[in-house]
Amino acid sequence: MTVPRDPLPLCLADYELLAGKRLEAGAWAYFSGGAADELTLRWNREAYDRLALLPRVLNGGPGGHARVNLFGRTYAHPIIVAPVAHQGLAHPDAERATAMAAAAQGAGMVLSTLATIAMEAVAAAGDTCRWFQLYMQPDRENTLRLVRRAEAAGYEVLVVTVDAPVSGVRNREQRAGFRVPPELVPENLRGLAQPDPPAPSDLQSAIFEHFMAMAPSWCDIAWLRGVTPLPIVLKGILTGDDAARALDTGIDGIVVSNHGGRTLDTAPATIDVLPQIAERVAGRAPIIVDGGIRRGTDVLKALAAGAAAVMIGRPIVYGLAVNGAMGVAHVLRLLRDEFEAAMALTGCTTVADIGPHLLRR
Ligand code: FNR
Ligand code: LAC
Repeated sequence: MTVPRDPLPLCLADYELLAGKRLEAGAWAYFSGGAADELTLRWNREAYDRLALLPRVLNGGPGGHARVNLFGRTYAHPIIVAPVAHQGLAHPDAERATAMAAAAQGAGMVLSTLATIAMEAVAAAGDTCRWFQLYMQPDRENTLRLVRRAEAAGYEVLVVTVDAPVSGVRNREQRAGFRVPPELVPENLRGLAQPDPPAPSDLQSAIFEHFMAMAPSWCDIAWLRGVTPLPIVLKGILTGDDAARALDTGIDGIVVSNHGGRTLDTAPATIDVLPQIAERVAGRAPIIVDGGIRRGTDVLKALAAGAAAVMIGRPIVYGLAVNGAMGVAHVLRLLRDEFEAAMALTGCTTVADIGPHLLRR
């Protein structure tokens, strides 16, 4: 009798399906879930599906490529690995495998503050994991410690995530009874004291008296700007006003993101707000977008709507869960190949040719 084998994954959705079968229920809920009713999670995808692309013909010829330049480095393509916490839940090699795969595929990678593996070890695993995602700590000393470690380990960009001062309402995780296992304590935070939330009572609000009281503000971003020479990118911007304020604060780039639908449910789909934000930023800083990008045509639409590059989150951990570093590398390769085919079919020789003229709303 032959044992039925899973078919070879041909696209990112295939990896999602396989990962769903392979991951333990709690980890699956953590990786795949969004906040509350998961409307933003759904909208992120639906918004791409609603956009049609206009093909352009007879644009063959030499010299084509998908290269982009970001903060002084040239990448073969504009697909970046998003910061995703606790990758040890997906595979024992965790972020080390992801970094190896990103390097093999010429993809930039952002390492989460909450990575399973320490930032120094991940930086050593591949030469494209050079962006560190910073969750600002309640106390500046601890924030500064993380920044200095990142600088010393060779990270070249700080990605400060600003859309999650409190956790989203994670009903899917709650239903699955998910908790981060104690043995997966994030190495980057080891030894940094974390204050305990106050005991809940009728008069005390953990949200306001604990989390928001310690949450970072624009003042802290201005402080950070003054203590590090590294480019700073703010991740989690969804309005033109916040984008403009980021630029006024000396920020070098932004990520238009709703945290993959994991924080404020009913926040808009990122691709829907990107054009207005791009108009406001007006080329003064690179814009990266994430949320729901699963096809090469999605990457093309994001660039057409004003992004310089995109990030993908869940597909990376699905590749990791299915086949470790090989799975992550394959996910990146599939998306890049699809993106280059989409460029070719819309008559784009380089990313400079990609623009709003390709989108039919
Ligand atoms: C995230 N994301 C995230 N972002 C961040 O700045 N720091 C983090 O530690 C994490 N952790 C994290 C864990 C998991 C399981 C997910 C799914 C996401 C958000 C991530 O960087 C990115 O914004 C979204 O994942 C993009 O949406 P897609 O590609 O997953 O649809
Ligand atoms: C999350 C946090 C870790 O989305 O950013 O799970």
